[in-house]
Amino acid sequence: MKGNYTHLTMYSGINASGHGSGKMSLGKSIKMYLTIFILTTCIYMALYQYHISQEPFAASDVVKHQEKSSSYIASYLWSPISLLMANSSSNTINQSTTTSTTTASTTTTTTAGGTVGQKLGASPASIRMVSLAATTPTFVSSSSQLRSGSVGGHRKTAGIRTSSTSTSTTTTTVATASGLATTTTTTAKTSAKTSAAATPTASHKENAHKTRPTFVAASEPPPLYIITPTYRRPEQLAELTRLGYTLKHVVNLLWLVIEDANATNPLVGHTLDRIGVPYEYMVAPMPEKYKQTKRAKPRGVSNRNRGLEYLRQHATEGVLYFADDDNTYDISIFEQMRYTTKVAMWPVGLVTKTGVSSPIIKDGKMVGYYDGWIGGRKYPVDMAGFAVSVKFLKERPNAQMPFKPGYEEDGFLRSLAPLDNTEIEFLADECRDILTWHTQTKKNAPAQALNRTHYKNTNLEHIDKLLVRP
Ligand code: UGA
Ligand code: MN
Repeated sequence: MKGNYTHLTMYSGINASGHGSGKMSLGKSIKMYLTIFILTTCIYMALYQYHISQEPFAASDVVKHQEKSSSYIASYLWSPISLLMANSSSNTINQSTTTSTTTASTTTTTTAGGTVGQKLGASPASIRMVSLAATTPTFVSSSSQLRSGSVGGHRKTAGIRTSSTSTSTTTTTVATASGLATTTTTTAKTSAKTSAAATPTASHKENAHKTRPTFVAASEPPPLYIITPTYRRPEQLAELTRLGYTLKHVVNLLWLVIEDANATNPLVGHTLDRIGVPYEYMVAPMPEKYKQTKRAKPRGVSNRNRGLEYLRQHATEGVLYFADDDNTYDISIFEQMRYTTKVAMWPVGLVTKTGVSSPIIKDGKMVGYYDGWIGGRKYPVDMAGFAVSVKFLKERPNAQMPFKPGYEEDGFLRSLAPLDNTEIEFLADECRDILTWHTQTKKNAPAQALNRTHYKNTNLEHIDKLLVRP
């Protein structure tokens, strides 16, 4: 130490000469001791930070200190006792995060993050975190959808994603290999779920010593199954693109795109891949007898019934919703319908001459329906105005949509009997708001034929393949 001191004082020009150099040396020595002390402290801090970067906090610590401010973090950093505690409790997180789940279904996935979330469920702090997860769909969506996009290239195989931390957290998800009439089977949904749940664990680890309050427990909201009938026409890819990017804002959603056709169209598959929302693409042609008819056709009925069949086979929980490809949807309705216990209803704008189709609510009770065409229907509602619990549907094995133009919604809802009016939930601010619209796209004439000789070897040859011809 003394050597150091001498050495250091040699660097001081003031000390080297003149009166009072002894005094100055004393002052300098205090300065130097302070410098050494600070340096040592810095090294200690750096070493400690490195240490904790290798050790995630125990779940119990996260719960207990969730609400604490940065002053807590500072005290933690300086305390060798808490260092010991972090060491000893690291086993706990090992136990909670090494839960490895394999699922053969697209509907239920338990992940490491979920386990942590359940543990957290015991404390008020965690309730805040869970609600935070539920009310920030965009954040989770963006991370999960990015993953699904990366899986969405050409999918036929089961997707396996493994995430690991230094405590050997392993989360494995195996997606369904659907044996249905599907040409495209997405693995993105389960992967997305996994990553959505696993991400907070990983980010927690990275940020543990920096910004602890950013930890968000991934508590999966109930899954949504969106059944979208579609058919080939000039507007088809545009409609699917617009709807798809709306759905991309919604987490834990499987998009069942069902085309009224005998075979799938690779252009539709490609469009769905590009959007990156987890999907299943199936076909369900309208029966010939309805195609031939001069009268109104039951549009989208075989498609929706195919969707119901898929849910009976693959889904166990969550909520189903029929979303025609041409309508307009505010994403908040998806977050609201997610928790439907039986049937939920809400207004749909741009329906008939009344401009809206809606249940009428008086004193918190449904007293009737407002719609420009009642037509003797028990449930005069639009397709876009209701959602049904998957469990509730599965308890009614005969429920389906009738091939009866104008009465599809009514027939389907009636087939869900027994259903008491008092059991229907009313969403969109108790039907005081409009969050879905029955928009209709202008019909476009099929594109005229391309002069192939004239435009040989140009980009138009490629674009031509995307167009619908007469
Ligand atoms: C209205 C309702 O909103 C529909 O839910 C209902 O099925 C339809 O009336 C009906 O009663 O027939 P609207 O806008 O008139 O809908 O019908 P479209 O949008 O043309 O078709 C409804 C859905 O079925 C769309 O998703 C569409 O892509 C699909 N569709 C339509 C087919 O799958 N095949 C067709 O031949 C026509
Ligand atoms: Mn429509």
